[in-house]
Amino acid sequence: MALVTLREVLLPALREGYGVGAFNIYNLETAQAVLQAAYEQSAPVILQATAGSLKHAGARVLAAMVRALAEPLPIPVVLHLDHGESPAMVAECLEAGFTSVMIDGSGLPFAENAALTREVVAMAHKAGASVEAELGHVTGRAEDADKRARLGITDPSEAFTPPEDAARFAAETGVDALAVAFGTVHGPYKGEPNLDFPRLEAIHRLVPDLPLVMHGGSGLPLPQLRRAIASGVAKVNIGTEVKHGWASALRQVLQEHPEETDPRRIMGPTRDSLKAIIAAKIAALGSAGRA
Ligand code: 13P
Repeated sequence: MALVTLREVLLPALREGYGVGAFNIYNLETAQAVLQAAYEQSAPVILQATAGSLKHAGARVLAAMVRALAEPLPIPVVLHLDHGESPAMVAECLEAGFTSVMIDGSGLPFAENAALTREVVAMAHKAGASVEAELGHVTGRAEDADKRARLGITDPSEAFTPPEDAARFAAETGVDALAVAFGTVHGPYKGEPNLDFPRLEAIHRLVPDLPLVMHGGSGLPLPQLRRAIASGVAKVNIGTEVKHGWASALRQVLQEHPEETDPRRIMGPTRDSLKAIIAAKIAALGSAGRA
């Protein structure tokens, strides 16, 4: 079917209490692995690309590729810009056919983040696309450290989302989904994740109809994943597990077949190993059979 918006997959997920996987994709085979896993499990799914992936492949190429792969499948698929950096980047993606965008103003003070988000909401809604924004900020990436430095924050917990601010931000901007910070991190966890569930639950109580987004979904133990979903998280971002799964599968294929030179016989088994990892994640999120 044609690509759908974030709203179309997240509102039923929020209502019915499951999570939709938002998997970062990097090339043809990572996109195929995600889509085939979702198709086989009859699950709605989000494919997302960062600024780095736009630079690597081009927004138009990514959009044309994902459309061509998704259209024959009878499942709802969203193509989403992850951590959009500017209205210009958002415009490029909307023009290319993305059905959802994130504008990441989380390194800005509240009023500036809200103003930037309002501008992007107006632009994206006019194009029939959805918008995710971030309030508070999730740490872990090099860019995240820059944001904290700009805001003068030293302890990551100071960047957690204040529940009352989330309600005000939602009302002032009209966003379709909101990424909140409550202890998840981008990249691998060092030790057991320590999540502030009372904070997440307080946010959900104040904005019960707004789908919440959890960045840093890779490596979270199942009970924490389930608790986050039960507390209003409808979109779960998974990047590191895609990258690590891809890289370790590729290394294994090359080790087992050091003489192989045919890209299809190297990429094919790599893609199939990644597909199994994605399938397990979709099952853990509870979105299997929800398409
Ligand atoms: P992980 O890489 O930790 O899964 O986080 C991905 C993410 O949040 C993308 O925005």
